[in-house]
Amino acid sequence: MKGVQHFLVFFSLLILGVTLASASDPSPLQDFCVALNSTKHAVFVNGKLCKDPKLATADDFFFSGLDKPGNTSNAVGSRVTPVNVDQIPGLNTLGISLVRIDYAPNGGQNPPHTHPRATEILVVTKGTLYVGFVTSNPDNRLFTKVLKTGDVFVFPVGLIHFQFNIGKTNAIAFAGLSSQNPGVITIANAVFGSNPAINSEVLAKAFKLDKKMVEYLQTQF
Ligand SMILES: *[C@@H]1O[C@H](CO)[C@@H](O)[C@H](O)[C@H]1NC(C)=O
Ligand SMILES: *[C@@H]1O[C@H](CO)[C@@H](O)[C@H](O)[C@H]1NC(C)=O
Repeated sequence: MKGVQHFLVFFSLLILGVTLASASDPSPLQDFCVALNSTKHAVFVNGKLCKDPKLATADDFFFSGLDKPGNTSNAVGSRVTPVNVDQIPGLNTLGISLVRIDYAPNGGQNPPHTHPRATEILVVTKGTLYVGFVTSNPDNRLFTKVLKTGDVFVFPVGLIHFQFNIGKTNAIAFAGLSSQNPGVITIANAVFGSNPAINSEVLAKAFKLDKKMVEYLQTQF
């Protein structure tokens, strides 16, 4: 009997633990929950500090400047300008955000990366992009498309994807993401540029590379 009681207590705590550890974007239980950094004028909803709704203003839901091109003078030739809960505190708990992506002419790319918390829907507003994503193991199927102005493509949550400018002009895209804070893992940076570095023997075996090549790649990130 005692064993059963212990089990029930343990099981209840487990369920409680799982509930409290939930990290998805929850459905809001009120109109909005403008995120606050301080406890002043705050109420506690959905596990976040929220501004008292009576004190919310239009500026809590506003961002300006997405008409400005991002600076693509960098190694990959692209720039992502995010508009998520860090830029618009009113996005807190709403499960949505936006980015603008600029691509340099002749090969500017948004390198292979994933968003751990969001599906992405992208529309090209200028130029021509070769885009794609790869499904999870064991198939690792590649889905690709060449997109022109006005074309839309979807990158399902968590899958590795990329965009590559195959046009002679700069390219521009905007994308909606199904999280207030989608997160980004750029594959090459995470694998070869981690801090501290992953043991080169691990990467040599995993990527079927010479250890010297791994150490060279590690100096590049
Ligand atoms: C809250 O903190 C974040 C991260 O430090 C910062 O980027 C943001 O500007 C702060 N927001 C406000 C309203 O102070
Ligand atoms: C773009 O970035 C490069 C490299 O960081 C910098 O040299 C250049 O001044 C920037 N251009 C603009 C217009 O900000």
